[in-house]
Amino acid sequence: MKIIKAKDYNEMSRKAANIISAQIIMKPDSVLGLATGSSPIGTYNELIDSYQKGDISFELVKSVNLDEYKGLGGDHKQSYRYFMENTLFSKIDIQKENTYLPNGLAENDEEECARYDDVIAQMGGIDLQLLGIGHNGHIAFNEPSDVFPDGTHCVKLTESTITANSRLFDEGEVVPTYAFTMGIKAIMQAKKIVLIASGTDKAAIVKEAFFGPITPKVPASILQMHPDCIVVADEAALALINE
Ligand code: GLP
Repeated sequence: MKIIKAKDYNEMSRKAANIISAQIIMKPDSVLGLATGSSPIGTYNELIDSYQKGDISFELVKSVNLDEYKGLGGDHKQSYRYFMENTLFSKIDIQKENTYLPNGLAENDEEECARYDDVIAQMGGIDLQLLGIGHNGHIAFNEPSDVFPDGTHCVKLTESTITANSRLFDEGEVVPTYAFTMGIKAIMQAKKIVLIASGTDKAAIVKEAFFGPITPKVPASILQMHPDCIVVADEAALALINE
């Protein structure tokens, strides 16, 4: 595991975007695993900038997102499909039919999970997976548990995740309590992983996940076992790591 230190959120975003740009330049038909949340917004803006300058093209890129809230359709403002369309997809030349997320409105959970694992398998796996990290160490929506979940599954979100994500919902809006999420297997099978972390509120979990024991109680800790995982974190998020 490689740790790259950035001064602040903007520098973290530039460094992460540079790694993703290099991936696309080296392999224009890359399969990118994409994330939602506040952490990747700056990275996506940098990628949009590089696209607008003509440095990279997403024409041949395929994307597969980590997760989606159960019960929300793609036109719901809080859905991750909506987030991806507005934050990235509508601003680059990616083909819409090449962008995949779990279907939050799927009626049969098991079928939807199997379908999504199949989508990832049909693509031949993920070339580069971008990740954020939750305060309890979750990656995608793989919450702390007694085992590392394997394939795509429907998960009951923990109170801490619901509380953290409620900041993005309007007052009075119901925050979904279940989500479809890619499992640890597809994430760990990605050829390259880039995890981004910014801010003092991530300092404790960064220390626990990447400098503590590997345990399903801290799902991100398994990334220590990945052969090509890069953590790009700012000084605030690395504040508890001794030099
Ligand atoms: C959500 C997402 C995760 C994300 C996490 C952290 O729970 N499912 O993929 O990493 O939030 O979000 P943020 O980057 O906003 O701190």
